[in-house]
Amino acid sequence: MRMFVAVDLDEIAKAAIAREQQLAWRLAAQSPITFVDPQQAHLTLAFLGEVPAPQADRVIAAMQEPIAATPFPIAFGGLGVFPRRGAPRVLWLGVSDGADTLNALQQLVARRLLAVAVTLEDRAFHPHLTLGRWKQSRPSERPSFPPEPRSSTAMTVDHVTLYESRLSSEGATHIERAHARLTPLEPVEALEP
Ligand code: 2AM
Repeated sequence: MRMFVAVDLDEIAKAAIAREQQLAWRLAAQSPITFVDPQQAHLTLAFLGEVPAPQADRVIAAMQEPIAATPFPIAFGGLGVFPRRGAPRVLWLGVSDGADTLNALQQLVARRLLAVAVTLEDRAFHPHLTLGRWKQSRPSERPSFPPEPRSSTAMTVDHVTLYESRLSSEGATHIERAHARLTPLEPVEALEP
């Protein structure tokens, strides 16, 4: 089973994605970008790749357990491109606020996955929302975006979701397999009789 863990977006953030896609389309001078469906957009925390069946069950069980953390706000803003140089591959919207807390959450999730013996890519985590991808591109098609003075879109992260990603000729379908709520640790007083 091909799996990944992501932060889901609320409807306001999905609407912001659609707006940013239009803006990027204009700024990128109609470069041939395939835009993602805003309804399917998510912020990936960990990509597990293909996980064999018995282990997939352990991953699903692990990702049903609440995460001991307080829900927190994040905000999106700023367009960018991966990789850092050369032909563009991924067009993204950045995380303008809450990136540090998101990093901490990503580490908690990664630790939980490593505990059930999943192998993860040994790459630094760069929080982003993928807005679109170039199937083929040349360095000359690389857009440059001005810094955005506009206000950014905010939402609260209060859970993470484990998805199965099924690939077909029409693209990927994401099926929810588990989700873990962010639940603040009980105050010490509450534990006393
Ligand atoms: P991205 O949108 O942040 O690039 C499901 O495939 C999700 O897993 C994608 O949205 C993608 O996140 C992420 N992902 C990370 N590494 C990947 C890889 N090597 N192959 C496919 N998807 C990957």
